[in-house]
Amino acid sequence: MSISIAEVEESAASALSAIAGAKDLAELKVVKIEHLGDKSGLSKASQALGKVPAEEKASFGKIVGEAKAKVSAAFEARIKVLEADRDARVLIEERVDVTLPATNIPKGGLHPLTILTNEISDLFLGLGYRVAEGPELEAEWLNFDALNIPADHPARTMQDTFFIEPLDSRLVLRTHTSPVQIRTMLENKPPIYVICPGRTYRADELDATHTPVFSQVEGLVIDRGITMADLKGTLDYFAQSIFGPDVVTRLRPSFFPFTEPSAEVDFFFNGRWIEWGGCGMVNPKVLEVCGIDTKEFSGFAFGMGLERTLMVRHGITDMHDIVEGDIRFTRSFGLGIK
Ligand code: DAH
Repeated sequence: MSISIAEVEESAASALSAIAGAKDLAELKVVKIEHLGDKSGLSKASQALGKVPAEEKASFGKIVGEAKAKVSAAFEARIKVLEADRDARVLIEERVDVTLPATNIPKGGLHPLTILTNEISDLFLGLGYRVAEGPELEAEWLNFDALNIPADHPARTMQDTFFIEPLDSRLVLRTHTSPVQIRTMLENKPPIYVICPGRTYRADELDATHTPVFSQVEGLVIDRGITMADLKGTLDYFAQSIFGPDVVTRLRPSFFPFTEPSAEVDFFFNGRWIEWGGCGMVNPKVLEVCGIDTKEFSGFAFGMGLERTLMVRHGITDMHDIVEGDIRFTRSFGLGIK
């Protein structure tokens, strides 16, 4: 392979014009491979040096060397210019306006009712209870019959209960959390210690003190030798944990089909008695439906509304505040995330 001086000069000239013509660093990189790489004209000229007759070697070598030096110098100079260009462009294109208002993404938080539910669950878990749950769409039999609420009981009429069509599905939106008692007793053998918080439904209009979708918490204990004294002690502990250490409770005789005897539980708070919920000793008829031996076991149950509990504790006067989920209201309870 031989090469002429004219070819060396031509290679150098075309390398220089390609370097000058590279508009950015990416283009310059391609130019480098083509004009300064192993297969470039100038590299081939260096390789051909070996075959040049001895007397021409020095002068030819000088020409090739000078051409390569010139091209390398042009390349180095061009790379500096293009790097400076890129840096200047990046500064403009990637400029951050630190004076722009920040986008504030608020963290999500739990609803105050959820916070209260968790608080009550934790409280009873600490006493060795389990949290039990049941479906909101419930079998009529579990919501009423098994709880000794007969077919002609007022609570079953169309006014209070949301029945599910077709009516022969025998499904209702549960009107209380008490069916979870039955589910628990059917699925577990005593001793049973459960707390059942959950959503419940009744055909009420939404107003300051009512909501058709509300929440209850149910407690159920079945064990040997359980008495009303155990119920009273548990309610005192519950009330004091929720409303304050000085709170006392009282039981007033009442009637519920699923407890015998039954009572209303009130607590003394801010100078007055406040109705809280219902309670009693589980009616032996209910225990029998669930296959529990009433000679060996007895139990108590209680149930209260969570909205009411929250309203009393925090001095909330309008149910709408709890139902609407306005973040300005819920935020005042904190995020509720531990
Ligand atoms: N289930 C009743 C209601 O919704 C409340 C209740 C009363 C629950 C007495 C009980 C109880 O567990 O023993 O009105």
